Amino acid sequence: MAAPTMEPELAEAHMRRLLASLGLDTEYVRGEGDTLYYLDRNGAEVAVLDLVGGYGTLMFGHNHPELVALARDLLAKRVPLHAQFSYHPYANELAAALNRVLHREFDIDEPYSAVFANSGAEGIETAMKHAELDRVIRVGELHAAVEADIATARAAVADGTATVSIEARAGLGLAEGADFDALVAELARRNGGILGRGPVFLTLEGSFHGKLAGSVQLTHNAGHRAPFRALAAQARFVPVGKPGALAEVLAEERVVLLAPVVVDGRVTLVEHQYPAIGAFFVEPVQGEGGIHVLSPELAAEIRAAADAVGFPVVVDEVQSGMGRTGRLFSASGVGLIGDYFVLAKGLGGGIAKTAALLVRQSRYRSDFELVHSSTFAKDALSCHIGIKVVEMLEADGGAAYERAVERGARLRAELDAVAAEFPDVVSEVRGKGLMLGIEFHDLSESTSEVLRDNARAGLIGYVAAGYLLREHAIRVFPTASAAHTLRVEPSLGITDEAIERFGRSLRGLCAILSKADGMALLPG
Ligand code: F0G
Repeated sequence: MAAPTMEPELAEAHMRRLLASLGLDTEYVRGEGDTLYYLDRNGAEVAVLDLVGGYGTLMFGHNHPELVALARDLLAKRVPLHAQFSYHPYANELAAALNRVLHREFDIDEPYSAVFANSGAEGIETAMKHAELDRVIRVGELHAAVEADIATARAAVADGTATVSIEARAGLGLAEGADFDALVAELARRNGGILGRGPVFLTLEGSFHGKLAGSVQLTHNAGHRAPFRALAAQARFVPVGKPGALAEVLAEERVVLLAPVVVDGRVTLVEHQYPAIGAFFVEPVQGEGGIHVLSPELAAEIRAAADAVGFPVVVDEVQSGMGRTGRLFSASGVGLIGDYFVLAKGLGGGIAKTAALLVRQSRYRSDFELVHSSTFAKDALSCHIGIKVVEMLEADGGAAYERAVERGARLRAELDAVAAEFPDVVSEVRGKGLMLGIEFHDLSESTSEVLRDNARAGLIGYVAAGYLLREHAIRVFPTASAAHTLRVEPSLGITDEAIERFGRSLRGLCAILSKADGMALLPG
């Protein structure tokens, strides 16, 4: 019961009550490595193995000593946190460090320009804005080209070297005798209905790209997205594992402008593809949507479509990047070269809140810098920490990447073993490196009322999380949009002992689920 002197709960009280009902409203007072500590009734610290890792942020664990030391040192030196509209050489240094890795991992040499932001969603929306500026410029160029074609044709008709063809009239539904002015008027009417149209963004079913007004429209979960549909440009979600789905969407989204052209004294019409698609956003490993690894085949299909149609591919490395899958840019593992990359989460080393958008120079619009800014972006503290994070990943010939692969394989083996022991409970283990998911069979028809009701309410993963925390002092969560999948994203420092402990606790959970003993998951 609340003490009488207690302040009213004003910071998301509803969520607090939900967490309390699931046994998850623990207050953690200290974090180190893969451990979070809370205080028991006697004020003694209780250690909890944290496999949530700041939703994938903590490649180096909580409060890594080298990063903490750097942050303290920077603050002690009074590094300017607010020197907006001045030269930021450290931002350039971070961009250069990221470029060096990008070039090596993809074996390319084109520079990528960096625009900094403060969170994953802000990085994604910065990409949306940049893609839109680029698209609007291309629309303008296309419009100008159509106007130039009209002027050329008009001159040819005026000096008698060309006449309007039957096909052109028929193509526009004009009467037989319609002259060039009538043709231009109809072209202007048709093209005018297209010019000025907003973009459609493409992404995959199951995607998660953020929850701000723009980015949430790229997030597949309708519960998160639908109420805010009117606020921003819409996305189309391309089905995964359905051959031909992307081609179908591209065909449906194909929009053309018509322009006149003079050939052999005849004015006919040509089609120019209108840039209707803003960009294709893709996660190399879908995180929040349930830990789904992008296949090399689909990656290649997306890249080929972008090259054919001309829209940019935005690779969202917010969760999969920064070493978690064994590479800084996990897309390099499936050969998907983005026109843009977005990094966040791990870029700040678990200390700073920062994000970076990288745009390949051949697609970069430098005017973007004049129309976009963000008060806290590109600050010295975040950039210096980002530089250090890249240094730590790259140290000793990339030992951190190898460790992510090795630790990931060890963890995966444990999860696979649990899955093999409980095939009636676990449906699949998925993921890459230290970004793993374990999916349970649907329990919405379980004989246990507790399991059935929670499964139907989409809370079963959270009930399991409450049990693991209470009974095993392990913190793990489901992926929010796929509540049957627990996501496991520890740091590089995860020990064999911690992995084995997790395995034992999962077996405990699976035994309960196997017996459909729902009551055993609830606080006693
Ligand atoms: N993109 C991806 C792939 C993400 O996983 C997230 C966040 C974002 C963008 C947005 O980043 O929260 O810093 O604005 N994912 C969290 C999660 C919420 O549950 O994995 P943000």
